[in-house]
Amino acid sequence: MSEASEPMEPIGVSLLGAGNVGAGVLAALQRGAERYAARVGRPLELRRVLVRARARPRAGAPAGALTDRFEDVLEDERTQIVVELMGGEHPAREYIARALASGRHVVTANKEVMAKCGPELLELASEHGVRLLYEASVGGGIPIVRPLGRDLLANEITAVTAIINGTTNYVLTAMTYEGSDYAEALAEAQRLGYAEPDPTDDVEGIDAAYKLAILCGLAFHVTVSPDDIARQGISGLSARDFRYADELGYTIKLLASGRLVDGALDVSVRPTLIAYEEPLGKVDGVLNAVQVEGDLVGRVLFEGPGAGPKPTASAVLADVLDVARDVVAGRGPLEAIRYRKAVVRPPSEQESRYYMRVTVADRAGVLAKIAGALGDNDISIASVVQFEVDEDARTAELVITTHKARGGRLDAALATIRELDEVVEIGSVLQMAG
Ligand code: HSE
Repeated sequence: MSEASEPMEPIGVSLLGAGNVGAGVLAALQRGAERYAARVGRPLELRRVLVRARARPRAGAPAGALTDRFEDVLEDERTQIVVELMGGEHPAREYIARALASGRHVVTANKEVMAKCGPELLELASEHGVRLLYEASVGGGIPIVRPLGRDLLANEITAVTAIINGTTNYVLTAMTYEGSDYAEALAEAQRLGYAEPDPTDDVEGIDAAYKLAILCGLAFHVTVSPDDIARQGISGLSARDFRYADELGYTIKLLASGRLVDGALDVSVRPTLIAYEEPLGKVDGVLNAVQVEGDLVGRVLFEGPGAGPKPTASAVLADVLDVARDVVAGRGPLEAIRYRKAVVRPPSEQESRYYMRVTVADRAGVLAKIAGALGDNDISIASVVQFEVDEDARTAELVITTHKARGGRLDAALATIRELDEVVEIGSVLQMAG
């Protein structure tokens, strides 16, 4: 018989924020208590939950744990892990920094904070001998932060291409398969709770840019400011673009892309035509996916639910269990990998294929003039199709696709095309993958 073991000292966990994701984490912590204790080797104990309204009861949190003072979390000596689920930059950023500086490990789902000052906070964690984990900040329940930081570390990653905003993917999927127009698809997304009443961050690609900045850090070991990411939202897309793209064999996705080109980084979040048969062309509805290309592994695709209380709780609690196991084993954190500042190429130098939809007067010679403007800027046309002709207005819609061209060349050609007498409107200009 072994000697009687010491009573198992629980590991104290406190939460900042008890909104949707917080509720998911509280429920999972309660339901999984025994399982987690077995996996960690010691039970987890919920210590404090920082909320705005302390009087409102929360499932999974005893009333005594609720507080509206952040200091109560810091002053609780038995809290070893702080889980930040408040969202937004302030005061979350300050709270994370103070928790780290007080010697607490921190787990966060906060994409905005990690995109804007992740490297700085990781360094702060390192200085204080604690860990800062952020699996839930990108792709909700999809494991991607840890795979990039650990399982793919032997690779030189050359490209990360991702669908990392479920709201826009839902809207674009409805526009692709139901022929909905943008306003209709967005209203439905709002009705179902996928889109916020103010959808700006999602539809203008801001949310995706935060997540892409985090992915680029992990993949390329560089700091990229979300402001350096070229961005185009989806609000200007029309149902016609989806019809024409479909006829050409493409769907349209909001792709977040980071690619190393001669040591510099091309980064963008843009609606992009992508062939239906491409793996990312098949990621529909609110799903997210991240495709990674590495020199050793080749191409790998991570796909799954990118938001929602349960999938996000899965990622948050994986981090909590990971760090709790370190606490039990008495393991200190590893030295953080140092990031260098990325050299980001301006959009004018980045290359892509393009799709453009141009409404023109249906007269002889128009096409030659447009082709001339493209040719003068070294842009090679891949295909031209004349779609709807309006007999009364005597206009036609031209859809032109190009081979790869620099953004700056394209802008110059478009400036010339816009000035042509025969051109009524440049309806849309979109990137094409490939
Ligand atoms: N608003 C995000 C999305 C979820 O639509 O994917 C949270 O990151």
